[in-house]
Amino acid sequence: MNLIVAASGGVAALKTPTLIRRLEEAGHKVRVAATEAAFHFITPLSLAVAAGSEVFDQASWFKADGQAKHIDLARWADALIVSPATADALASAAQARADDVISALCISGIPKIIWVPAMNTAMWQHPLVQKNVETLKTIGHAFLGPVSGNLAAKGEAAGIGRMLEPEEIVAALPSLFKSQDLSGKHVLVSAGPTREYLDPVRFISNPSSGKMGYAMAEAALARGAKVTLITGPSALTPPVSANTQKVETALDMLEALKGSFASCDILVMTAAVADWRAKHVATEKQPKMGEEQTLELIRTPDILSTLKPLRSKQIMVGFAMETDKGVERAADKASRKGLDFICLNYPTQEGTSFGGDDNQITVVKPNGDSEKLARMSKRAIADIILDKALALKQS
Ligand code: C5P
Repeated sequence: MNLIVAASGGVAALKTPTLIRRLEEAGHKVRVAATEAAFHFITPLSLAVAAGSEVFDQASWFKADGQAKHIDLARWADALIVSPATADALASAAQARADDVISALCISGIPKIIWVPAMNTAMWQHPLVQKNVETLKTIGHAFLGPVSGNLAAKGEAAGIGRMLEPEEIVAALPSLFKSQDLSGKHVLVSAGPTREYLDPVRFISNPSSGKMGYAMAEAALARGAKVTLITGPSALTPPVSANTQKVETALDMLEALKGSFASCDILVMTAAVADWRAKHVATEKQPKMGEEQTLELIRTPDILSTLKPLRSKQIMVGFAMETDKGVERAADKASRKGLDFICLNYPTQEGTSFGGDDNQITVVKPNGDSEKLARMSKRAIADIILDKALALKQS
């Protein structure tokens, strides 16, 4: 894509050259613009070197060379990314002021405008700033972040207002150009393993990484869905726009899912819920005793079967990992757990399943009909699952 990266005057402008590099590495063509305030934080030369072209700024804009540079740039661009976006840049754009390069570009016909705000928590949360954000959203502008984290000012407590990292911006970009066919839909995703504690420091679990569930959440967000992600312990960073709830045990996961199930349109249950939990959880760490130890275990509740009677409009999708008689067992599970379909996968295939970036699934219906899909990335599988769930929802 042809992208204009425009920096306004915040300390996060120091990250703009890195953003330009990352976008170019991802195959985009980048030109750069900056307000005069941005030059308090980053030099024109740093931006020009990163972009490999002239910076569009107040000086080049008003050069007497007979060109309307903002219009030429706007015609070239597929999107404008304002990063960092300050409260002032948002206000100027919301008022269509055109008295600096960013607000002028915003009203020059660029098809997509993306804001990456960076500011102090109090400023971001101020009602007038939020009013400007809403005004811009109403006319189709997109926002990436801000997120909670450490802020620039020395001694300032962490809070919402931190700009996304350049890598996160690059990763989120494709989602802004996807078909928004899940807009208005609420997708509920469970992910990762559960931990069933024996005592405060020991638990039963499994090697689920959460990758399939996080990919589901990302895919649904990219298609405009509201996403709730209920996740067991995972080393992954949840997508910024998902409503993420972290849980540990199967019982916690059940409660969290119950809380969101009624309002969801599609439930995708990728979590590897532990089947057993300790009958008695010790409140103190248990000392080692003897050479053998016997654990008394009881079944965890089957979450899908518990949600089944509460179902109204929801499409329900599960996952099944089998080593033998896959389709037969998966169809039986789909039927018992009240699923529209189940995604059968095998733990034994190299490069797929637990922890891998790829997966190979067979989609199995409760009546035993099955469709084997090719091995592909978990993200690509997530989109196919959403296609199928949406088709059922609309049928
Ligand atoms: O019976 P099995 O564990 O193989 O079923 C797998 C499917 O059921 C997955 O979608 C999993 O998330 C879900 N499950 C559940 N509650 C459990 C165990 C598994 O909802 N206690």
